[in-house]
Amino acid sequence: MTAKGSDKKRPRFVCASCGAEHPKWAGCCDACGEWNAITAAESAPARLSSRAELHSLAGAGGEPPLRTTSGIAEFDLVTGGGIVPGSVILVGGDPGIGKSTLALQIACSMKSIYFSGEESPLQIRQRAQRLAVPADGVQVSSSTIVEEIQEIVQDRKPECVVIDSVQTLSLRELPGFRGSIGQIRESTARLVELAKRTGVPVMLIGHITKDGAIAGPKMLEHLVDTVLYFEGDFSRDYRILRAFKNRFGSVNEIGLFRMTGKGLEEVRDKNSLFLSPFSSHSAGSAVSASLEGSRIILFEVQALVTFTSFSNPRRMADGFDLNRLILIAAVLEKHGMLKLGTCDVFVNVAGGFSITETASDLAVAMAIVSSLRERPIPAHTGMAGEIALSGEVRPVAQVHRRIQEFARSGFKTLVLSKKDSLEARDAGFTGEVVGVATIAEAMDFLF
Ligand code: TYD
Ligand code: MG
Repeated sequence: MTAKGSDKKRPRFVCASCGAEHPKWAGCCDACGEWNAITAAESAPARLSSRAELHSLAGAGGEPPLRTTSGIAEFDLVTGGGIVPGSVILVGGDPGIGKSTLALQIACSMKSIYFSGEESPLQIRQRAQRLAVPADGVQVSSSTIVEEIQEIVQDRKPECVVIDSVQTLSLRELPGFRGSIGQIRESTARLVELAKRTGVPVMLIGHITKDGAIAGPKMLEHLVDTVLYFEGDFSRDYRILRAFKNRFGSVNEIGLFRMTGKGLEEVRDKNSLFLSPFSSHSAGSAVSASLEGSRIILFEVQALVTFTSFSNPRRMADGFDLNRLILIAAVLEKHGMLKLGTCDVFVNVAGGFSITETASDLAVAMAIVSSLRERPIPAHTGMAGEIALSGEVRPVAQVHRRIQEFARSGFKTLVLSKKDSLEARDAGFTGEVVGVATIAEAMDFLF
């Protein structure tokens, strides 16, 4: 056995890519598979703060944190009411989705410093001009060295700091190349410490790697206060900002934007995004209401049912859970007497929207029936209901608010579960309301 004390004197070898420690040098890191990334580390990585302090839980920060509005209502909604001083917000998303545009628009609403390792100050200035945002309070820097950023922020005390992006950051004192996991992790930790110490909120931008994690194995999510994902369909101009983690608010809210020639615009008429007025009257289309945080969004489900030439009929879903679709198709066969065993079933949620709620089951089922029978669902008909394996249509959460949204959007007929249908009058719906107990009853009414 080796004595513990002698270990300390031996040089440590650290992989610059993943941060794994090795007892001796090797050409390839067996933890992450990276070649030529292992180097000798002379000293242990610097600790964040050496001074420990105690604070009274009751006394310190008894009041809720004051928030700074970002100037963008949708962003404020997603963050839970604005930017909390000293907080660190990580905005992730595919390259080109609009993260830099969003960050710049937010930065321009306050006195801020925009650190960009991806674009030159001139490019950022040109972008600000194109966006026509007031850029007077914003200073731009192309520094990506964390020590320099720390110094600048401490000196200037801006209202907000944007780092575009975490993948370009590096620490002088740490081995490893820029963009390596070790560098990103330690750089982020330093910036978190900076934000907490100075009270300056920091917005970090991170590209999502191909496997969907920000900069590798989800390693930054636990370091920061808030993780937002910016997503959307590149073929369309809308973008959704989704909270994945939020220490200062709910994670249910979504922010809706549209990418225009003048940057990101907030979407006021949210239903216009996912409801197309043209296809809603064709066979295979049904409209339902989805609960997204504090809001209700109407969306359209499109189904296509075709006879298959394969022995195994296909089921495909876009924006909807495939297993749920298989289940609904099975329930329709058993309790709706449909012959889907010889048919391919494709389901798509219009506009690239995705739904996770079981409240949309009824709309998915009725869209399938509509396509199979080639009979459109009457115009201005909305529906909401969960489907049980027994073929029963069950009530949904917060039906009151869903009904109100249907009423506001001019719907004339609602198909709901029996129990939910009793709420319609109360919710101010004046059109026709049909309460159904089973999918067979829903089919009888609609087709
Ligand atoms: P960007 O913010 O650079 O994306 P990210 O930082 O996530 O990589 O936005 C890139 C796209 O947005 C680019 O393809 C062009 C488009 N865009 C507009 O359509 N309008 C605009 O006003 C701006 C600034 C960008
Ligand atoms: Mg960018």
